[in-house]
Amino acid sequence: MVAIQAKGLCKRYGNIVAVDNVDLEVKEGEIFAIVGPNGAGKTTLIKMILGITKPDSGFVELPDPARTGYLPENPLFYDNLTGLETLQFYASIRGIPKERCYEVLSIVGLEGVADRKVGSYSKGMVQRLALAQALLPKPLILVLDEPTSGLDPIAAKEFRSLIKEMREQGSAIIMSSHVLSEVEQLADRVGVLYRGRMVAVGDVPTLVEKRGLSAQLYVRIKNPSPKAVDTAIEYGGISAEIKGDLVSVACPIKRRFEVLRALDDEYGVVDFRVEEPGLEEVFVAYAGGKR
Ligand SMILES: Nc1ncnc2c1ncn2[C@@H]1O[C@H](COP(=O)(O)OP(=O)(O)OP(=O)(O)O)[C@@H](O)[C@H]1O
Ligand SMILES: [Mg+2]
Repeated sequence: MVAIQAKGLCKRYGNIVAVDNVDLEVKEGEIFAIVGPNGAGKTTLIKMILGITKPDSGFVELPDPARTGYLPENPLFYDNLTGLETLQFYASIRGIPKERCYEVLSIVGLEGVADRKVGSYSKGMVQRLALAQALLPKPLILVLDEPTSGLDPIAAKEFRSLIKEMREQGSAIIMSSHVLSEVEQLADRVGVLYRGRMVAVGDVPTLVEKRGLSAQLYVRIKNPSPKAVDTAIEYGGISAEIKGDLVSVACPIKRRFEVLRALDDEYGVVDFRVEEPGLEEVFVAYAGGKR
């Protein structure tokens, strides 16, 4: 079931076109990640989806605002309230039972500092509090603007597990992130936003295939010969070179095994490594130009 639908979203700030005619659809139980360079329009798009920023044109359909959770890019809380008081404040605004505050505090691992003032929190603690706040309404729609920014690697991993758990429970999740490895792990589909336009949408393997991105093969051979370069090209390599006993070959992903086998047959493979193209290469292909 489609949970979030947006059509033709546009937003200008003076001469700047922040978001340019973007369509978007996210299903229940799906994580959709928006990636793109700084200033591409990710936050503006997210805010329009949430109704925080009014689009110049286009529309958004969200099922239940009361069950929507939002982790903003720069969470801002009152320094003089404790973590618990902060959550109780948000809970009271949204008509959420106070007991839920304790639940979300424990979900994000903040029980130990719940009675400390937020002004004394580290950046990571503030980020956890922001996630706790987003989880308050048991969200069916979860919108996360750079959720793991400022988190240590372990905390980031915990956040990712939580996000996956929300997906398992059927929530529709939109997130933005600059951590492409994280997006690769989490997202079912990715949208590349570039200068306000959604220039690519799909799962990573599909986008890799669409752009015809090549894999990089590094092969150590027993009997080095300059002819190994010709063999690599003959069996599908796009370009190849040899240095000592190491043959480096760029080739379409589909041909990588053929190239490897040919090198093994003729020169004996001692060791090899394959670098498959991923979201980073997709990102550069679609959004590597001038901002
Ligand atoms: N309130 C505003 N007033 C004027 N310009 C704005 C406003 N909000 C955003 N912009 C401009 O719109 C463009 C998109 O900004 P946005 O914050 O959506 O980018 P982003 O993709 O989230 O970037 P980042 O990766 O740095 O978070 C930028 O050029 C920005 O300067
Ligand atoms: Mg942003």
